Amino acid sequence: MILLSISDLAVRYGRSVKAMHGVSFDVPDQSVVAVLGSNGAGKSTLLRAISGTLSLHGGEITNGTIELDGTRIDRMDPAAIVRRGLGQVPENRQVFSRMSVEENLRAGGLATPPSRRAAARAAVLDMFPKLADRASQPAGLLSGGEQQMLAIGRAMMGEPKVLLLDEPSLGLAPLIIEQIGRTVTEINERGTTVVLVEQNAMMALTVAHTAVVLEVGELKLRGDADELKASEDIQRLYLGGHAESEEHADAEQGEAAERLERRRKSLKVWSA
Ligand SMILES: Nc1ncnc2c1ncn2[C@@H]1O[C@H](COP(=O)(O)OP(=O)(O)OP(=O)(O)O)[C@@H](O)[C@H]1O
Ligand SMILES: [Mg+2]
Repeated sequence: MILLSISDLAVRYGRSVKAMHGVSFDVPDQSVVAVLGSNGAGKSTLLRAISGTLSLHGGEITNGTIELDGTRIDRMDPAAIVRRGLGQVPENRQVFSRMSVEENLRAGGLATPPSRRAAARAAVLDMFPKLADRASQPAGLLSGGEQQMLAIGRAMMGEPKVLLLDEPSLGLAPLIIEQIGRTVTEINERGTTVVLVEQNAMMALTVAHTAVVLEVGELKLRGDADELKASEDIQRLYLGGHAESEEHADAEQGEAAERLERRRKSLKVWSA
């Protein structure tokens, strides 16, 4: 069964910025679909279109349709879409940093029927036991990885049928990224469909069943995650990207070492 269906979607910001054009793909129920693409490809735009939040960013859908569970949602407001079973973790996590962990979770459950909130909370704390330990602390004091877990937990308090995640790995250490990958798998195994936007193609293709690749607002590739992982285009464009950033890190380290060496030499000159 198809849970989410995107058809010929076009999006514009303001009068002139055409951010997306002719994008179509289906998200099968109970699956994990990865959305890959480099900076500015339109990944966040796509998630905003699905969650009905484009207008908050000065954008609008100019063509196409989005169906959730057989109902068109592309003209609905965000709250109505949430009630229909959509959860979203936006870019940069955006937990309420002055509110406690517990209050953040409670906020996530406001649209959940009161009779189901305790069960939703129990499921979230079962998945993220650390959040229970830190329940009374301000969310802003959590580490980046913990804040990401809280942002995901907050969205799961709404018991969504489909969860949209916008670059959950951003700025986190490799071990934490792996943990987030496992979390996505667990959420999916507990019955939630996931749309996972990532620049970390390796992690995303490891946990996803299928994937689509966006390039400057258009859909360039789609296929099984395993196939895409093996494809030369993906290797070159995205998996190679990691090697490149490692090279970059090496280069930075090299520069730092050179600076240190220069300073040592100049110190020697002074002490000589
Ligand atoms: N609020 C906005 N107003 C105007 N243009 C925007 C706005 N948000 C995004 N855009 C433009 O739309 C295009 C797609 O941006 P989007 O943020 O969706 O890309 P992205 O794939 O999420 O990139 P990143 O990986 O950097 O998060 C870009 O050209 C961007 O400049
Ligand atoms: Mg983005």
